[in-house]
Amino acid sequence: MKHSTRSDRGLTRHVVAWCWAGAALIGGQAHAQNVQYAPGKVIFDSKCVVCHQAGGKGQDGLAPPLIELPGRYAAHDEGRQQLTMTVLNGMFGAITVDSKTYNFKMPSFKAMSDEDLADVLNYVVFDLNAKHDGAKPFTAADVKAMRASPMDGAKVREHRDVALKSIGS
Ligand code: HEC
Repeated sequence: MKHSTRSDRGLTRHVVAWCWAGAALIGGQAHAQNVQYAPGKVIFDSKCVVCHQAGGKGQDGLAPPLIELPGRYAAHDEGRQQLTMTVLNGMFGAITVDSKTYNFKMPSFKAMSDEDLADVLNYVVFDLNAKHDGAKPFTAADVKAMRASPMDGAKVREHRDVALKSIGS
């Protein structure tokens, strides 16, 4: 009797462990299917989400949404430079997105590696934006090239007008 109770408990433990493993596997598969740039998502969720919010939906009065313009920028040279210079140098100065004005400081992320910045840009462009007009992925070399011309956040804001013009906005 004592013996059978013990083995029942053992069986329960085994079943519980198996269910956990199954749930983790299903969770892992769903994750892999939904996100193309998983390493970029990890960076976004730790460094960007506090301002831009989950999925880049933005936060009124604080940080703009990142769900439409980045995908459009990424298909044009000036726009690609804009995205890269923004994460490297930050941006400062009022902007309007979807008729809402934002005038807070985007910090510089130049302390991050070229690879990590390319990953987070790819997550923003390809996972958060439904449209990306055939844009090619960002590479570490793209980030490295832009790193060679450091600038302040106000200059990045100025260049944003050039980038918007090049995408026809
Ligand atoms: C402290 C808050 C904050 C954090 C953290 C932050 N941002 Fe921003 N971001 C902003 C603000 C504010 C702006 C708009 C700046 C302005 O008004 O000049 C902005 C603008 C941008 C833009 C330009 C959007 C456009 O329409 O031109 C991109 C791209 C961007 N952020 C990406 C990121 C990424 C990627 C990260 C994480 C690596 C990040 N941001 C982290 C506040 C933040």
